[in-house]
Amino acid sequence: MKNLENLEVRNNPIVKIGEQIGFPNSDVYAVLEYMNLGGSHKDRPVSRMIKNGIEAGDIDENTTVVDYTTGSAGISIARICRAIGLKATLVMPSDITQEREDLIKEAGAKLILTDKTGWVRESVNTALEIYQSNPNHYLLNQSANPGNKDSFHDLAYGILAHFKDGKPIDYFIAASGTSATVVGAAEVFKRYSPRTQIIAVDVSKSPSTWALKHGQKFTHYPHRLYGTGAGAASPIATAGIGLIDEVYRVDDDEAYETCRELIKNGIEIGPTSGANVMITREILHQNPNARIVTVFFDKAERYKSKGLC
Ligand SMILES: Cc1ncc(COP(=O)(O)O)c(C=O)c1O
Repeated sequence: MKNLENLEVRNNPIVKIGEQIGFPNSDVYAVLEYMNLGGSHKDRPVSRMIKNGIEAGDIDENTTVVDYTTGSAGISIARICRAIGLKATLVMPSDITQEREDLIKEAGAKLILTDKTGWVRESVNTALEIYQSNPNHYLLNQSANPGNKDSFHDLAYGILAHFKDGKPIDYFIAASGTSATVVGAAEVFKRYSPRTQIIAVDVSKSPSTWALKHGQKFTHYPHRLYGTGAGAASPIATAGIGLIDEVYRVDDDEAYETCRELIKNGIEIGPTSGANVMITREILHQNPNARIVTVFFDKAERYKSKGLC
């Protein structure tokens, strides 16, 4: 098995985006997580979870890494496993995006699609069955694996180190699925920058993090804000919900519209990043002088088959 060291994620650029999002004099920034080798923020947790598995002796050169995914983590798992010489099996609901299916398969992983009516729950159950019935298989279990959340501490440290003018960060805004990004970053912000409000963004059609925060029932309707709204609370979200100050909901169609509008201004991002921009704008309307940092998770090109660009 090859070494993971060279694939580990370091700090990505943090860029000012006020001009492109229609608030030219604002103090607003995005971390370009799409610049990771796997094209999304998921390189962070995937490399961390695999490294932890190797160090614990649970993963060796004969292991097949298994997990459920809506695609971003699956692409990172497939690419990282290929790079270090491991096999990977990913389980994903059908009807996510053709691009995600292609990228996973092109990286040499086995892809199993579950019935779209069963959504993420069905993929979780299938991944569990594969893990339990096959020797030498290791389930990453991303929605409960502490390595997922811990890997985002470095994201927050990178953000804090970027700003050297003494002005605090008022808001950190991130779309939430497993909630690892928002909870992992929050653990660092709450300690070193307690004034920073932590804002999670969820899909309005079937919000999970929002339902957890507000004690509401979980629903699950098909939507296109892939990576959010899995129809259940992840264990990471359940443990960390107290660190999230507020959860905003966005309509997935409006998130696509926002992405299409931003493309004309030179920002080519996926729908969850577009959702982040929608909430950033909402907060700027209330508080135009706020310093806000958000995340650009992945790029628009992964959603062409769903009409994004
Ligand atoms: C494109 C995209 N954005 C945002 C998220 C949410 O990230 P997290 O699982 O860390 O909450 C995901 C999760 O799969 C995703 O795929």
